[in-house]
Amino acid sequence: MNNFTYDIPTRIHFGKDALDFIGEEVGKYSKKVLLTYGGGSIKKNGIYDKVVEELKNKNIEIFELSGIKPNPRIDSVREGVKLIKENDIGAILAVGGGSTIDASKIMSAGAKVEFDPWDFISEGKEIKDAIPLFTVLTMAATGSEMNGGAVISNPETNEKLASGSYYTRPKASFLNPELTYTVSEFQTAAGSADIMSHLFEIYFNNNDSMYMLDRMMESLMKTVIEYGPKAIKDPKNYEARANLMWASSWAINGFLSASSNAEWSNHPMEHELSAFYDITHGLGLAILTPRWMDYVLSDDTVNKFYDLGVNVFNLEQSEDKMEVARKTIEKVSEFFFEKLGLDNNLNALGIDEENFDAMSKKACGKNGVIKGFIDLNPEDVRKIYEMSLN
Ligand code: NZQ
Ligand code: ZN
Repeated sequence: MNNFTYDIPTRIHFGKDALDFIGEEVGKYSKKVLLTYGGGSIKKNGIYDKVVEELKNKNIEIFELSGIKPNPRIDSVREGVKLIKENDIGAILAVGGGSTIDASKIMSAGAKVEFDPWDFISEGKEIKDAIPLFTVLTMAATGSEMNGGAVISNPETNEKLASGSYYTRPKASFLNPELTYTVSEFQTAAGSADIMSHLFEIYFNNNDSMYMLDRMMESLMKTVIEYGPKAIKDPKNYEARANLMWASSWAINGFLSASSNAEWSNHPMEHELSAFYDITHGLGLAILTPRWMDYVLSDDTVNKFYDLGVNVFNLEQSEDKMEVARKTIEKVSEFFFEKLGLDNNLNALGIDEENFDAMSKKACGKNGVIKGFIDLNPEDVRKIYEMSLN
Protein backbone atom coordinates (compact mmCIF):
# COMPACT_ATOMS: atom_id res chain seq x y z
CA MET A 1 0.00 0.00 0.00
CA ASN A 2 1.20 3.50 -0.83
CA ASN A 3 1.57 6.48 1.39
CA PHE A 4 -0.95 9.15 0.46
CA THR A 5 -2.36 12.55 1.29
CA TYR A 6 -6.14 12.84 1.46
CA ASP A 7 -7.43 16.14 0.10
CA ILE A 8 -10.63 16.26 -1.92
CA PRO A 9 -11.53 19.93 -1.89
CA THR A 10 -14.74 20.08 -3.95
CA ARG A 11 -17.76 21.10 -1.89
CA ILE A 12 -20.84 19.10 -2.87
CA HIS A 13 -24.42 20.30 -2.62
CA PHE A 14 -26.48 17.15 -3.16
CA GLY A 15 -30.23 16.70 -3.51
CA LYS A 16 -33.37 18.35 -4.77
CA ASP A 17 -32.35 21.79 -3.50
CA ALA A 18 -28.73 21.61 -4.74
CA LEU A 19 -29.10 24.38 -7.31
CA ASP A 20 -30.33 26.85 -4.68
CA PHE A 21 -26.69 27.26 -3.60
CA ILE A 22 -25.31 28.32 -7.00
CA GLY A 23 -25.53 32.08 -6.54
CA GLU A 24 -24.07 32.01 -3.08
CA GLU A 25 -21.08 29.82 -4.05
CA VAL A 26 -20.21 31.49 -7.35
CA GLY A 27 -20.73 34.96 -5.86
CA LYS A 28 -17.95 34.32 -3.33
CA TYR A 29 -15.44 34.35 -6.18
CA SER A 30 -16.73 36.58 -8.98
CA LYS A 31 -19.49 38.86 -10.20
CA LYS A 32 -18.92 37.66 -13.77
CA VAL A 33 -19.34 34.03 -14.77
CA LEU A 34 -18.92 32.08 -17.98
CA LEU A 35 -21.85 29.66 -18.26
CA THR A 36 -20.79 26.69 -20.40
CA TYR A 37 -23.03 23.94 -21.76
CA GLY A 38 -23.46 21.41 -24.55
CA GLY A 39 -25.88 20.89 -27.39
CA GLY A 40 -28.95 22.28 -25.72
CA SER A 41 -30.44 19.52 -23.53
CA ILE A 42 -30.40 22.00 -20.62
CA LYS A 43 -32.69 24.37 -22.51
CA LYS A 44 -35.24 21.61 -23.22
CA ASN A 45 -35.44 20.30 -19.67
CA GLY A 46 -35.52 23.63 -17.83
CA ILE A 47 -32.11 23.40 -16.11
CA TYR A 48 -30.87 26.47 -18.00
CA ASP A 49 -33.70 28.66 -16.70
CA LYS A 50 -33.16 27.60 -13.11
CA VAL A 51 -29.39 28.21 -13.29
CA VAL A 52 -29.80 31.65 -14.84
CA GLU A 53 -32.37 32.61 -12.23
CA GLU A 54 -30.02 31.63 -9.39
CA LEU A 55 -27.15 33.66 -10.86
CA LYS A 56 -29.35 36.68 -11.53
CA ASN A 57 -30.68 36.60 -7.98
CA LYS A 58 -27.15 37.28 -6.81
CA ASN A 59 -26.52 39.94 -9.52
CA ILE A 60 -23.89 37.85 -11.27
CA GLU A 61 -23.30 38.86 -14.88
CA ILE A 62 -23.58 35.90 -17.27
CA PHE A 63 -21.54 35.22 -20.42
CA GLU A 64 -22.31 32.06 -22.37
CA LEU A 65 -20.49 29.42 -24.36
CA SER A 66 -22.68 26.64 -25.75
CA GLY A 67 -22.24 23.82 -28.26
CA ILE A 68 -19.61 21.83 -26.37
CA LYS A 69 -19.73 18.41 -28.00
CA PRO A 70 -19.40 14.94 -26.47
CA ASN A 71 -15.67 14.12 -26.68
CA PRO A 72 -15.07 17.86 -26.25
CA ARG A 73 -12.94 19.63 -28.81
CA ILE A 74 -9.99 21.89 -28.17
CA ASP A 75 -11.69 24.53 -30.34
CA SER A 76 -14.42 25.01 -27.71
CA VAL A 77 -11.73 25.40 -25.06
CA ARG A 78 -9.98 28.08 -27.11
CA GLU A 79 -13.26 29.92 -27.60
CA GLY A 80 -13.92 29.88 -23.87
CA VAL A 81 -10.46 31.15 -23.00
CA LYS A 82 -10.92 34.02 -25.45
CA LEU A 83 -14.25 35.02 -23.90
CA ILE A 84 -12.83 34.89 -20.39
CA LYS A 85 -9.83 37.04 -21.26
CA GLU A 86 -11.76 39.57 -23.35
CA ASN A 87 -14.39 40.11 -20.66
CA ASP A 88 -12.27 39.69 -17.56
CA ILE A 89 -14.50 36.84 -16.31
CA GLY A 90 -13.58 35.46 -12.88
CA ALA A 91 -15.33 32.07 -12.73
CA ILE A 92 -16.86 29.31 -14.87
CA LEU A 93 -20.10 27.45 -14.25
CA ALA A 94 -20.19 24.25 -16.33
CA VAL A 95 -23.68 22.78 -16.72
CA GLY A 96 -23.67 19.31 -18.26
CA GLY A 97 -21.88 15.99 -18.32
CA GLY A 98 -18.20 15.18 -18.42
CA SER A 99 -17.65 16.78 -21.81
CA THR A 100 -18.81 20.24 -20.78
CA ILE A 101 -17.04 19.99 -17.44
CA ASP A 102 -13.75 18.76 -18.94
CA ALA A 103 -13.65 21.51 -21.57
CA SER A 104 -14.37 24.06 -18.82
CA LYS A 105 -11.49 22.77 -16.71
CA ILE A 106 -8.98 23.44 -19.45
CA MET A 107 -10.60 26.83 -20.09
CA SER A 108 -10.12 27.66 -16.41
CA ALA A 109 -6.42 26.84 -16.70
CA GLY A 110 -6.07 28.44 -20.14
CA ALA A 111 -7.36 31.71 -18.72
CA LYS A 112 -4.18 31.96 -16.64
CA VAL A 113 -1.58 31.44 -19.38
CA GLU A 114 -0.54 33.09 -22.62
CA PHE A 115 0.10 29.90 -24.63
CA ASP A 116 -2.39 27.74 -26.56
CA PRO A 117 -4.38 25.54 -24.11
CA TRP A 118 -3.77 22.54 -26.40
CA ASP A 119 -0.19 22.58 -25.03
CA PHE A 120 -1.55 21.40 -21.67
CA ILE A 121 -2.93 18.36 -23.46
CA SER A 122 -0.49 17.49 -26.22
CA GLU A 123 2.76 18.57 -24.55
CA GLY A 124 1.67 17.86 -21.00
CA LYS A 125 2.51 21.40 -19.88
CA GLU A 126 1.86 21.63 -16.17
CA ILE A 127 -1.27 23.45 -14.97
CA LYS A 128 -0.13 25.79 -12.21
CA ASP A 129 -3.22 27.91 -11.72
CA ALA A 130 -6.84 28.22 -12.85
CA ILE A 131 -9.83 30.46 -12.33
CA PRO A 132 -12.54 28.97 -10.05
CA LEU A 133 -14.75 26.33 -11.64
CA PHE A 134 -18.24 25.25 -10.52
CA THR A 135 -20.35 22.46 -12.00
CA VAL A 136 -24.00 21.52 -12.26
CA LEU A 137 -23.92 17.84 -13.14
CA THR A 138 -26.63 16.65 -15.54
CA MET A 139 -25.60 13.02 -16.01
CA ALA A 140 -23.88 10.42 -13.85
CA ALA A 141 -20.78 8.97 -15.48
CA THR A 142 -17.33 10.49 -15.50
CA GLY A 143 -16.91 11.84 -11.98
CA SER A 144 -15.47 15.00 -13.50
CA GLU A 145 -17.63 16.96 -11.05
CA MET A 146 -15.35 15.96 -8.18
CA ASN A 147 -11.89 15.50 -9.68
CA GLY A 148 -9.24 17.54 -11.49
CA GLY A 149 -9.01 15.49 -14.69
CA ALA A 150 -10.03 16.51 -18.18
CA VAL A 151 -9.99 14.68 -21.49
CA ILE A 152 -9.89 16.78 -24.66
CA SER A 153 -10.03 15.82 -28.33
CA ASN A 154 -8.39 17.27 -31.40
CA PRO A 155 -10.15 15.82 -34.46
CA GLU A 156 -7.50 17.24 -36.80
CA THR A 157 -4.87 14.94 -35.33
CA ASN A 158 -7.14 12.11 -34.11
CA GLU A 159 -5.92 12.74 -30.59
CA LYS A 160 -7.86 12.43 -27.36
CA LEU A 161 -5.70 12.95 -24.31
CA ALA A 162 -6.01 13.61 -20.61
CA SER A 163 -4.66 16.44 -18.50
CA GLY A 164 -5.57 17.89 -15.14
CA SER A 165 -4.35 19.16 -11.84
CA TYR A 166 -5.32 20.09 -8.33
CA TYR A 167 -6.23 23.58 -9.60
CA THR A 168 -8.86 22.32 -12.04
CA ARG A 169 -10.87 20.57 -9.34
CA PRO A 170 -14.25 22.30 -9.07
CA LYS A 171 -14.65 24.58 -6.06
CA ALA A 172 -18.21 23.34 -5.66
CA SER A 173 -20.53 21.02 -7.58
CA PHE A 174 -24.31 21.04 -7.48
CA LEU A 175 -25.76 17.53 -7.76
CA ASN A 176 -29.52 17.19 -8.09
CA PRO A 177 -30.40 13.64 -9.23
CA GLU A 178 -33.69 14.92 -10.71
CA LEU A 179 -31.66 16.69 -13.40
CA THR A 180 -30.69 13.30 -14.79
CA TYR A 181 -34.29 12.13 -15.38
CA THR A 182 -34.05 13.20 -19.03
CA VAL A 183 -30.81 11.34 -19.78
CA SER A 184 -31.54 8.82 -22.55
CA GLU A 185 -31.52 5.06 -22.02
CA PHE A 186 -28.34 4.79 -24.03
CA GLN A 187 -26.47 7.53 -22.14
CA THR A 188 -27.66 6.11 -18.81
CA ALA A 189 -26.26 2.73 -19.84
CA ALA A 190 -22.99 4.21 -21.11
CA GLY A 191 -22.63 6.31 -17.96
CA SER A 192 -23.18 3.26 -15.76
CA ALA A 193 -20.55 1.36 -17.75
CA ASP A 194 -18.13 4.25 -17.29
CA ILE A 195 -18.61 4.30 -13.50
CA MET A 196 -18.12 0.54 -13.40
CA SER A 197 -14.97 0.82 -15.47
CA HIS A 198 -13.47 3.46 -13.15
CA LEU A 199 -13.97 1.04 -10.29
CA PHE A 200 -12.45 -1.87 -12.22
CA GLU A 201 -9.45 0.22 -13.25
CA ILE A 202 -8.59 0.84 -9.60
CA TYR A 203 -9.68 -2.54 -8.24
CA PHE A 204 -7.46 -4.46 -10.66
CA ASN A 205 -4.26 -3.26 -9.11
CA ASN A 206 -0.94 -5.05 -9.14
CA ASN A 207 0.22 -3.63 -5.81
CA ASP A 208 -0.92 -4.85 -2.47
CA SER A 209 -4.28 -3.24 -2.18
CA MET A 210 -6.05 -2.07 0.92
CA TYR A 211 -8.80 -4.34 2.22
CA MET A 212 -11.01 -1.44 3.27
CA LEU A 213 -10.85 0.24 -0.13
CA ASP A 214 -11.42 -3.02 -2.03
CA ARG A 215 -14.60 -3.65 -0.06
CA MET A 216 -15.76 -0.07 -0.69
CA MET A 217 -15.18 -0.48 -4.41
CA GLU A 218 -17.19 -3.69 -4.35
CA SER A 219 -20.07 -1.81 -2.68
CA LEU A 220 -19.98 0.86 -5.35
CA MET A 221 -19.96 -1.81 -8.07
CA LYS A 222 -23.00 -3.43 -6.48
CA THR A 223 -24.67 -0.05 -6.44
CA VAL A 224 -24.17 0.39 -10.19
CA ILE A 225 -25.35 -3.18 -10.87
CA GLU A 226 -28.46 -2.57 -8.77
CA TYR A 227 -29.41 0.89 -9.99
CA GLY A 228 -28.11 1.20 -13.58
CA PRO A 229 -30.80 -1.12 -15.00
CA LYS A 230 -33.43 0.43 -12.68
CA ALA A 231 -32.69 3.94 -13.99
CA ILE A 232 -32.96 2.65 -17.56
CA LYS A 233 -36.36 1.05 -16.94
CA ASP A 234 -37.70 3.86 -14.78
CA PRO A 235 -35.88 7.12 -15.67
CA LYS A 236 -37.62 9.13 -12.95
CA ASN A 237 -36.67 6.79 -10.13
CA TYR A 238 -35.03 9.24 -7.70
CA GLU A 239 -33.38 6.55 -5.62
CA ALA A 240 -31.76 5.00 -8.70
CA ARG A 241 -30.59 8.34 -10.12
CA ALA A 242 -29.28 9.48 -6.73
CA ASN A 243 -27.30 6.30 -6.14
CA LEU A 244 -25.75 6.45 -9.60
CA MET A 245 -24.89 10.11 -9.23
CA TRP A 246 -23.10 9.81 -5.93
CA ALA A 247 -21.38 6.60 -7.06
CA SER A 248 -20.07 8.39 -10.16
CA SER A 249 -18.45 11.08 -8.03
CA TRP A 250 -16.84 8.68 -5.56
CA ALA A 251 -15.58 6.17 -8.12
CA ILE A 252 -12.95 8.56 -9.42
CA ASN A 253 -12.35 11.41 -7.00
CA GLY A 254 -9.05 10.01 -5.77
CA PHE A 255 -10.28 8.45 -2.55
CA LEU A 256 -10.42 4.84 -3.73
CA SER A 257 -7.16 4.97 -5.64
CA ALA A 258 -5.12 5.82 -2.55
CA SER A 259 -3.65 2.35 -2.43
CA SER A 260 -2.92 2.04 -6.12
CA ASN A 261 -0.31 3.47 -8.41
CA ALA A 262 -0.99 1.22 -11.38
CA GLU A 263 -1.84 2.95 -14.64
CA TRP A 264 -5.31 2.41 -16.03
CA SER A 265 -5.59 -0.07 -18.89
CA ASN A 266 -9.00 0.16 -20.53
CA HIS A 267 -9.20 3.95 -20.56
CA PRO A 268 -6.16 4.58 -22.77
CA MET A 269 -7.39 1.87 -25.15
CA GLU A 270 -10.87 3.41 -25.23
CA HIS A 271 -9.63 6.95 -25.71
CA GLU A 272 -8.14 5.83 -29.05
CA LEU A 273 -11.53 4.44 -30.11
CA SER A 274 -13.17 7.78 -29.27
CA ALA A 275 -10.34 9.71 -30.92
CA PHE A 276 -10.57 7.81 -34.20
CA TYR A 277 -14.29 7.09 -34.34
CA ASP A 278 -15.92 9.65 -32.00
CA ILE A 279 -17.84 6.93 -30.16
CA THR A 280 -19.39 7.26 -26.69
CA HIS A 281 -16.76 6.70 -24.00
CA GLY A 282 -18.78 4.32 -21.79
CA LEU A 283 -19.82 2.17 -24.74
CA GLY A 284 -16.19 1.74 -25.83
CA LEU A 285 -15.23 0.73 -22.29
CA ALA A 286 -18.05 -1.82 -22.06
CA ILE A 287 -16.88 -3.50 -25.27
CA LEU A 288 -13.19 -3.58 -24.33
CA THR A 289 -13.39 -4.51 -20.65
CA PRO A 290 -14.48 -8.18 -20.80
CA ARG A 291 -11.93 -8.79 -23.59
CA TRP A 292 -9.19 -7.16 -21.53
CA MET A 293 -10.26 -9.35 -18.60
CA ASP A 294 -10.00 -12.49 -20.75
CA TYR A 295 -6.59 -11.36 -21.95
CA VAL A 296 -5.07 -10.74 -18.52
CA LEU A 297 -6.63 -13.65 -16.62
CA SER A 298 -3.96 -16.14 -15.57
CA ASP A 299 -2.90 -18.18 -12.53
CA ASP A 300 -1.12 -15.03 -11.31
CA THR A 301 -4.16 -12.77 -11.56
CA VAL A 302 -6.95 -15.21 -10.77
CA ASN A 303 -7.45 -14.11 -7.14
CA LYS A 304 -8.75 -10.67 -7.99
CA PHE A 305 -11.28 -12.10 -10.46
CA TYR A 306 -12.32 -14.62 -7.84
CA ASP A 307 -12.92 -11.88 -5.27
CA LEU A 308 -14.95 -9.88 -7.80
CA GLY A 309 -17.08 -12.91 -8.67
CA VAL A 310 -17.80 -13.94 -5.09
CA ASN A 311 -18.14 -10.51 -3.48
CA VAL A 312 -19.90 -8.59 -6.27
CA PHE A 313 -21.65 -11.11 -8.51
CA ASN A 314 -22.58 -13.50 -5.67
CA LEU A 315 -20.89 -16.52 -7.24
CA GLU A 316 -20.40 -19.48 -4.95
CA GLN A 317 -17.03 -19.97 -3.33
CA SER A 318 -15.11 -22.86 -4.83
CA GLU A 319 -11.74 -24.61 -4.80
CA ASP A 320 -11.57 -24.06 -8.54
CA LYS A 321 -10.73 -20.37 -8.62
CA MET A 322 -10.16 -20.30 -12.37
CA GLU A 323 -13.67 -21.58 -13.02
CA VAL A 324 -15.11 -18.83 -10.80
CA ALA A 325 -12.92 -16.24 -12.53
CA ARG A 326 -14.24 -17.26 -15.96
CA LYS A 327 -17.82 -17.08 -14.72
CA THR A 328 -17.03 -13.63 -13.32
CA ILE A 329 -16.05 -12.37 -16.76
CA GLU A 330 -19.30 -13.80 -18.16
CA LYS A 331 -21.19 -11.88 -15.46
CA VAL A 332 -19.41 -8.67 -16.40
CA SER A 333 -20.42 -9.20 -20.06
CA GLU A 334 -23.97 -10.00 -19.04
CA PHE A 335 -24.15 -6.76 -17.06
CA PHE A 336 -22.87 -4.55 -19.87
CA PHE A 337 -24.60 -6.18 -22.81
CA GLU A 338 -27.80 -7.67 -21.38
CA LYS A 339 -28.67 -5.67 -18.26
CA LEU A 340 -27.53 -2.33 -19.70
CA GLY A 341 -28.31 -3.34 -23.30
CA LEU A 342 -25.12 -1.92 -24.85
CA ASP A 343 -23.75 -3.14 -28.20
CA ASN A 344 -21.21 -5.85 -27.56
CA ASN A 345 -18.67 -5.53 -30.35
CA LEU A 346 -16.83 -3.03 -32.51
CA ASN A 347 -18.24 -4.34 -35.79
CA ALA A 348 -21.68 -3.30 -34.58
CA LEU A 349 -20.34 0.27 -34.44
CA GLY A 350 -18.90 0.01 -37.97
CA ILE A 351 -15.31 -0.24 -36.70
CA ASP A 352 -12.84 -2.56 -38.43
CA GLU A 353 -9.09 -3.22 -38.19
CA GLU A 354 -8.01 -0.35 -40.41
CA ASN A 355 -6.57 1.90 -37.69
CA PHE A 356 -5.65 -0.74 -35.10
CA ASP A 357 -1.88 -0.41 -35.58
CA ALA A 358 -1.90 3.35 -35.13
CA MET A 359 -4.36 3.16 -32.23
CA SER A 360 -2.37 0.46 -30.42
CA LYS A 361 0.80 2.51 -30.60
CA LYS A 362 -0.87 5.69 -29.45
CA ALA A 363 -2.65 3.93 -26.58
CA CYS A 364 0.75 2.93 -25.20
CA GLY A 365 1.97 6.51 -25.26
CA LYS A 366 5.52 7.80 -25.39
CA ASN A 367 6.94 4.95 -23.30
CA GLY A 368 5.41 2.28 -25.55
CA VAL A 369 3.72 0.47 -22.67
CA ILE A 370 0.63 0.73 -20.46
CA LYS A 371 1.97 -0.10 -17.01
CA GLY A 372 -1.30 -1.37 -15.59
CA PHE A 373 -2.56 -4.45 -13.77
CA ILE A 374 -0.66 -6.36 -16.42
CA ASP A 375 1.70 -4.35 -18.61
CA LEU A 376 0.45 -4.04 -22.17
CA ASN A 377 2.58 -3.25 -25.22
CA PRO A 378 1.16 -2.26 -28.63
CA GLU A 379 0.97 -5.90 -29.70
CA ASP A 380 -1.13 -6.78 -26.66
CA VAL A 381 -3.41 -3.80 -27.22
CA ARG A 382 -3.88 -4.77 -30.86
CA LYS A 383 -4.90 -8.27 -29.79
CA ILE A 384 -7.50 -6.85 -27.38
CA TYR A 385 -8.91 -4.65 -30.16
CA GLU A 386 -9.08 -7.73 -32.40
CA MET A 387 -10.86 -9.73 -29.70
CA SER A 388 -13.40 -6.87 -29.48
CA LEU A 389 -14.27 -6.91 -33.19
CA ASN A 390 -17.14 -9.41 -32.94
O1 NZQ B 1 -24.80 18.24 -25.07
P1 NZQ B 1 -26.14 18.08 -24.46
O2 NZQ B 1 -27.24 18.60 -25.29
O3 NZQ B 1 -26.19 18.58 -23.04
O4 NZQ B 1 -26.44 16.49 -24.41
C1 NZQ B 1 -25.59 15.57 -23.73
C2 NZQ B 1 -24.72 14.75 -24.66
O5 NZQ B 1 -25.31 14.60 -25.92
C3 NZQ B 1 -26.46 14.51 -23.08
N1 NZQ B 1 -26.95 14.88 -21.75
C4 NZQ B 1 -26.24 15.21 -20.66
N2 NZQ B 1 -27.06 15.46 -19.63
C5 NZQ B 1 -28.33 15.31 -20.10
C6 NZQ B 1 -28.26 14.93 -21.45
N3 NZQ B 1 -29.36 14.70 -22.20
C7 NZQ B 1 -30.56 14.83 -21.58
N4 NZQ B 1 -30.69 15.17 -20.28
C8 NZQ B 1 -29.61 15.42 -19.50
N5 NZQ B 1 -29.77 15.73 -18.21
O6 NZQ B 1 -25.63 13.37 -22.97
C9 NZQ B 1 -24.69 13.37 -24.03
C10 NZQ B 1 -23.33 12.98 -23.50
O7 NZQ B 1 -22.79 13.99 -22.67
P2 NZQ B 1 -21.26 13.94 -22.22
O8 NZQ B 1 -20.98 15.12 -21.38
O9 NZQ B 1 -20.40 13.72 -23.41
O10 NZQ B 1 -21.23 12.58 -21.36
P3 NZQ B 1 -20.27 12.08 -20.23
O11 NZQ B 1 -20.63 12.67 -18.92
O12 NZQ B 1 -20.27 10.61 -20.33
O13 NZQ B 1 -18.81 12.65 -20.61
C11 NZQ B 1 -17.98 11.95 -21.51
C12 NZQ B 1 -16.64 12.63 -21.65
O14 NZQ B 1 -15.90 12.68 -20.40
C13 NZQ B 1 -14.61 12.05 -20.58
C14 NZQ B 1 -14.89 11.06 -21.69
O15 NZQ B 1 -13.70 10.60 -22.29
C15 NZQ B 1 -15.76 11.87 -22.62
O16 NZQ B 1 -14.98 12.75 -23.41
N6 NZQ B 1 -14.13 11.50 -19.31
C16 NZQ B 1 -13.77 12.37 -18.33
C17 NZQ B 1 -13.24 11.94 -17.13
C18 NZQ B 1 -12.84 12.89 -16.06
N7 NZQ B 1 -12.85 14.18 -16.29
O17 NZQ B 1 -12.48 12.48 -14.97
C19 NZQ B 1 -13.01 10.52 -16.84
C20 NZQ B 1 -13.75 9.61 -17.76
O18 NZQ B 1 -13.13 8.37 -17.71
C21 NZQ B 1 -13.84 10.07 -19.17
O19 NZQ B 1 -12.68 9.78 -19.92
ZN1 ZN C 1 -14.21 6.78 -17.92
